[in-house]
Amino acid sequence: MEKYQEVFDKSLNNPEDFWAEAAESISWYKKWDVVLDSSDPPFYRWFRGGELNTCYNAVDRHVENGHGDRTAIIYDSPVTDTVRKMSWAELRDQVAQLAGALKQQGAEKGDTIIVYMPMIPEALVAMLACARLGVIHSVVFGGFAADELAIRIDHAQPKMILCASGAIEGKKKLAYKPLVEAAIEQSEHKPEKTIVFQRDFLQADLGQPGDLNWQELVKDAEPADCVPVAATDPLYILYTSGTTGMPKGVLRDNGGHAVALHWSMKNIYNMEPGDVYWAASDVGWVVGHSYIVYGPLLYGCTTVVYEGKPVGTPDAGAFWRVIAEHKVKALFTAPTAFRAIKKEDPEGLHLKKYDLSEYKTLFLAGERLDPDTYHWAKELLGVPVIDHWWQTETAWAIVANPMGIEQFPVKPGSATKSVVGYDVKILDSEGNELEPGEEGNIVIKLPLPPGTLATLWRNKERFISSYMSRYPGYYETGDGGYIDKDGYVFVMGRIDDVINIAGHRLSTGAMEEIVASHSQVAECSVIGIEDSLKGQKPLGLVVLKAGADCEVDKLNKELSLMVRNSIGPIACYRETVIVARLPKTRSGKILRGTMRAIAAGKEYRMPSTIDDPSCLEEIAMALKIIGYPVEQS
Ligand code: COA
Ligand code: AMP
Repeated sequence: MEKYQEVFDKSLNNPEDFWAEAAESISWYKKWDVVLDSSDPPFYRWFRGGELNTCYNAVDRHVENGHGDRTAIIYDSPVTDTVRKMSWAELRDQVAQLAGALKQQGAEKGDTIIVYMPMIPEALVAMLACARLGVIHSVVFGGFAADELAIRIDHAQPKMILCASGAIEGKKKLAYKPLVEAAIEQSEHKPEKTIVFQRDFLQADLGQPGDLNWQELVKDAEPADCVPVAATDPLYILYTSGTTGMPKGVLRDNGGHAVALHWSMKNIYNMEPGDVYWAASDVGWVVGHSYIVYGPLLYGCTTVVYEGKPVGTPDAGAFWRVIAEHKVKALFTAPTAFRAIKKEDPEGLHLKKYDLSEYKTLFLAGERLDPDTYHWAKELLGVPVIDHWWQTETAWAIVANPMGIEQFPVKPGSATKSVVGYDVKILDSEGNELEPGEEGNIVIKLPLPPGTLATLWRNKERFISSYMSRYPGYYETGDGGYIDKDGYVFVMGRIDDVINIAGHRLSTGAMEEIVASHSQVAECSVIGIEDSLKGQKPLGLVVLKAGADCEVDKLNKELSLMVRNSIGPIACYRETVIVARLPKTRSGKILRGTMRAIAAGKEYRMPSTIDDPSCLEEIAMALKIIGYPVEQS
């Protein structure tokens, strides 16, 4: 078998041959004219001229290859007390039937559809039905509030919305339809139809114009066939947090995505077709898109759709039960889930009740894997614990331990080596490449491999300004870190205003816009501070308007509610500090980076451009009072 270095070198020295070979695993209606179209950098396009259908590759071809009876989806929902298995043949029929219903309602290739659904198999059916028709889906995570949904409706301009009547979140029953109605009410763009999957525990009122009942629609629909699309046609738009209130619509194509995800299942995750793969995330995040839906299904693995939490549904043994009951070979989740389990069951007593003999590897991503959580998980489970680093933008890992090629010894704190196809470098602020061990900005030399973002939906300029302009010829990841002398990459955290709360990527800029709109607030800054369970949480530093008479507890409650109602409960905004001034440069720029360093307990240097140094001391003091360690160099 080829070793990592050989495969890696091949992928960078001759990417076209490398990915053309990988693309042979996908069924094409028409092969590509060029493997990599580099004619319009930085807009590189993979498999230009090729035609395929992602749904065909993920569903129909397994049935045609004789695997119709195999299990495609295991739906495990402790919150509704349900375990249900769906074969590939059943999945194909359901997807074709829903695609037929969507077609009947006017959906066609190139349209967009928003999917706002919890973790039920119908969410996957919805995504695949869109892919079947060449319709571009945009899934919005259920934890986002109506305002955030409205922003996405206006930007994606969906012809329809597919939603469920509701979800169960832990012990709470949540109605989704009123949120969808509120979002449509707010948005300028009005989708023509809202198709609602009615759940047993909560029936939505379908009284609005354009409301349709999913189950009834599907019953009489004529099944639809797969529609050939260009490799470079969009498969989906997934909005992710940038540094402002306007999220970025990451655009994923069909061809490169199918090739890369198929390749990753063996080479990164060491899976075989027929194995059971479980990504304990949500279809609303990129992890869900890539590794609940497309990756496992493209490769012929059974995917687990888990509607529950790591703790409380019903206990901290939930993950072990699912692994044992469904013979899961690889589990992929965020470190925060393990911190939650550890908090409730530090001795791992629940594990003793289950037989995990089929379980081979734990994969973690979404936030930095702290060494404590790494060691705890490793000792408890006795299987390799593999950290890997990636982003919504890339759809698959940039840095990982390539378990299907060569397993490297783990260095806690590092996600191991650059993944095949990614030329990862560390640059200083002037664009000079740094020496091993020196910390700087993590970038990837262009072209990015297949599967990574083609552009930002309806915003080519932002694609360039966000990722491509600071270091021409490179993609700027927004993360900082270093590579050691053995080539291990250490990702230390974001260098911009994006934070990770329980593995959920959110924008402090978006929160600032909301906090700043409070009638008593003159100006504010929201920064991420460390949290032992969720990794990070937001903290608002607020300057009151002159003459404002506002008590901090009351203000904090009001701001928390405003952020919750606007962004959603997942923002977890619960802490506000009132300060006299915010630290600024002489030109008036708020020194967010320095405040972030203070809050992270890192050493910070007094910036030479600071207008009033006493300001930072005041903030450091305020943070100390609420329990954050502060060091100044
Ligand atoms: N729909 C509606 N509300 C949701 C939601 C959804 N899909 N997901 C979360 N929320 C709500 C929660 O109910 C909670 O509301 P509350 O403030 O009223 O209690 C709030 O958003 C915060 O949710 P969360 O951050 O998930 O916190 P939690 O305390 O409920 O659970 C963990 C903490 C660690 C157990 C949980 O975050 C988890 O399982 N994380 C796993 C990692 C993961 O899935 N990462 C995603 C990317 S890989
Ligand atoms: P998202 O786009 O939601 O997947 O979030 C991507 C961001 O999460 C990255 O830019 C990192 O800041 C962080 N992240 C994801 N995985 C890791 C990891 N393994 N180690 C450190 N940070 C990570």
